[in-house]
Amino acid sequence: MVSRVIPVDSFDLVIFGGTGDLARRKILPGLFRRFRSGQMPEDARIIGAARAEMDDEGYRQLIADAVEEFGGEEKADAEGLKQFLGRLHYVPIDAKGDGGWPELAALMRDGVIRAFYFSVGPSLFGDLAERLHTHSIADEQSRIVVEKPFGRDLASAQQLNADLAAHFGEHQIYRIDHYLGKETVQNLMAVRFGNVLFEPLWNSHYVDHIQITVAETVGVGGRGSYYDQSGAMRDMVQNHLMQLLCLIAMEPPAQYDADRVRDEKLKVIRALQPLQPHQVVRGQYDAAGGDPSYRDDVENPRSHTESFIALKTHIANWRWAGVPFYLRTGKRLKARTSEIAVVFKDLGHTIFEGDTARHRNILAIRLQPNEGMDLQVTIKEPGPGGMRLVDVPLDMTFADALGPDQEQVPDAYERLIMDVIRGNQTLFMRGDEVEAAWAWTDPIIAGWEARHDVPKTYDPDTQGPEDAMMLMHRDGRRWREIREEFKRRPGPATTVGSGIHDPEDDPVQPPVQQPRKAGE
Ligand code: NDP
Ligand code: BG6
Repeated sequence: MVSRVIPVDSFDLVIFGGTGDLARRKILPGLFRRFRSGQMPEDARIIGAARAEMDDEGYRQLIADAVEEFGGEEKADAEGLKQFLGRLHYVPIDAKGDGGWPELAALMRDGVIRAFYFSVGPSLFGDLAERLHTHSIADEQSRIVVEKPFGRDLASAQQLNADLAAHFGEHQIYRIDHYLGKETVQNLMAVRFGNVLFEPLWNSHYVDHIQITVAETVGVGGRGSYYDQSGAMRDMVQNHLMQLLCLIAMEPPAQYDADRVRDEKLKVIRALQPLQPHQVVRGQYDAAGGDPSYRDDVENPRSHTESFIALKTHIANWRWAGVPFYLRTGKRLKARTSEIAVVFKDLGHTIFEGDTARHRNILAIRLQPNEGMDLQVTIKEPGPGGMRLVDVPLDMTFADALGPDQEQVPDAYERLIMDVIRGNQTLFMRGDEVEAAWAWTDPIIAGWEARHDVPKTYDPDTQGPEDAMMLMHRDGRRWREIREEFKRRPGPATTVGSGIHDPEDDPVQPPVQQPRKAGE
């Protein structure tokens, strides 16, 4: 399959914080890939801006080194890189002072899109917005891109929204949640709303429960000082997991456009039932095998911040009444794997004598690695031996579907930046969504802080704390296992043969149902 690359209009993209970690690791290598794919117009320019003194050549060298360190296969393209670097400029600027602003104003061109990426800490967002305005650098068509974290609670998010709204309209503000730029996340909408198959089943009549897992193997690494003030609830649940939940649960929007999609997501967040303490498990990874503990990593021996969270929530509306949504995320877990699993209800009755297994359809949507989806279905085991049932996945791995052309598929940041240039806000969070998400997480965080709640410790390289297992076991369900990779292996009849999960991994554990005899 050949993916189409649609060039965007010409632009001047200013990256405030253009020398920082995010810019070097994600933004610039991503833009180089878009350049190589032919998506960037001939005269598009990227302007790095930060306080460090350097000239264009110095910045080009910095980014060449970043592509060398963080780029993929494209770094072998020396000629392409040289051309790309020619598009780069640099302006030393202080977000809090006046230095550099007249120079930036003089550099900007008329007649092209002006986009400003705030790849700096949130404490500078208001200063940048104000100076772009007072130095007349931004116009009505300009866009600003703001990074997470968007506040640390409702009050600070409201303040940030107000600071930005003082100089920019909501249609100009692009709040990044890079999970929305992931290929599978968009495919989730395509699958739900582009097929007749799923929507009739997408409700409490047919869905038993939904699991959302975002598991990481890395610890907090060098981000300890930020993370220890944040924790998994603020760092992952309030934004990334919440967005996944919204896309899974929202009503079909009348059209796939920014405001209709975001209106529907907002309704989901507002319908979330308040979290009760017994519905949440917090964890913190311990030291093991010479690796540091969370507390070592953040250099805070008394830290009560969580590096893991598991929770159960409900959405109080007609579609989802009674259907639990289980969310979990954590660092230093068994494997880097993220998926959403829609676990359908049991058949209720089997016509096959001797079939004692519970056959459940599960739609597993894999965000990473090995992006794709599979639908677990029951079939007859091929060959002789009577009617013996086996569960197998109908597998759609995007890499297989896209074939050799998949290199063209942009990663989340690339896709989102191109959407900014196109003026498409669908995959960005609106101000009211962010505030509603904080309004939901604030009370539970305030509760932990008030009672000095201590997270459970868990061993690295595991599924997280035991209590997280209990959260589901109490409901007669279990988490799908966090494991290394999706492997396919044949299974004997009447077992789950997909290779993703063993029979004992069955996410629901009702009493085993016996086939009914005629006349019963
Ligand atoms: P860094 O600390 O690595 O970079 C900060 C950048 O901002 C540097 O270029 C710095 O350069 C510049 N800067 C700092 N103060 C000023 C100022 N007063 N005026 C102008 N420029 C300034 O941060 P990251 O790149 O890691 O993060 C940037 C943003 O992205 C943050 O909001 C972060 O939360 C978010 N983010 C980062 C992720 C990551 O993986 N790194 C992931 C998700 C979000 P200089 O000191 O020379 O001015
Ligand atoms: C970031 C979080 O937003 O997402 C990090 O701040 C986390 O703590 C990262 O590691 C995970 O992103 P991805 O794309 O690697 O799953």
